[in-house]
Amino acid sequence: MPNRWLPWFKAVAHLACLGPLAWLGWRMYRSATSDPSALGPDPTETVTFFTGFGALRLLVISLAITPIRRLLPKLSWLVRFRRLLGLYAFAWACLHLLTYLWLYAAWSWPAIEDDLARRPYIWAGLTAWALMVPLALTSTAWSIRTLGGKRWNWLHRLVYVSAIAGVLHYWWIVKAGVLAPLQITILLAVLLALRPILSWWKRREGTRTAAAAA
Ligand code: HEM
Repeated sequence: MPNRWLPWFKAVAHLACLGPLAWLGWRMYRSATSDPSALGPDPTETVTFFTGFGALRLLVISLAITPIRRLLPKLSWLVRFRRLLGLYAFAWACLHLLTYLWLYAAWSWPAIEDDLARRPYIWAGLTAWALMVPLALTSTAWSIRTLGGKRWNWLHRLVYVSAIAGVLHYWWIVKAGVLAPLQITILLAVLLALRPILSWWKRREGTRTAAAAA
């Protein structure tokens, strides 16, 4: 992709990540003012699902960039969007947590304690979110320099654990027999399976090139 297009693609990425939030904000505003049904029969559930699923979707899309880049080298420029998407995934997850604290728990510590004791899916969500914190904090070029590429890469593999915890959290919430989380689970499973396969392929190609050069 020519460099001059980058700002346009970035603008589209920002719009794609922020647009749905603006739409949710608009529905919340309408629900509070003119149209009480704007957020459906259960507004809290609508907002929680919207922000939780938004976070998970962005997390999985950001994970797809490395395999796409390896399979289709012409799309290598996509790597410039990985950090942006990862940070937006974290921002959506923070909004989701805020929704929980505000609309579900009403900022009541006893209610949160009770949830933690009775609803294991809250622990899975908390794990997914907590694992995103060090990733967001070390997403700067300065962190890569300070930690060193190898250590930074190791740390950033936590993103896979976070996505797995997010998917478990989702399965745990839906009623038995509901298959809504299946699509995103399959996508994540394919991405997880591709990782070692593509690394093996890259090593093999490297050995072949070295042998040919020798
Ligand atoms: C501190 C962390 C978190 C807490 C306390 C939390 C809590 C919740 C709650 C209370 C619900 C609604 C359950 C219901 O409908 O009864 C929910 C839904 C959901 N959460 Fe989380 N969550 C957290 C983190 C996350 C993260 C990091 C992700 C994604 C990576 C995520 C993805 C989802 C999804 C997809 C749903 C929708 C499930 C559905 O309603 O069908 N959550 N979460």
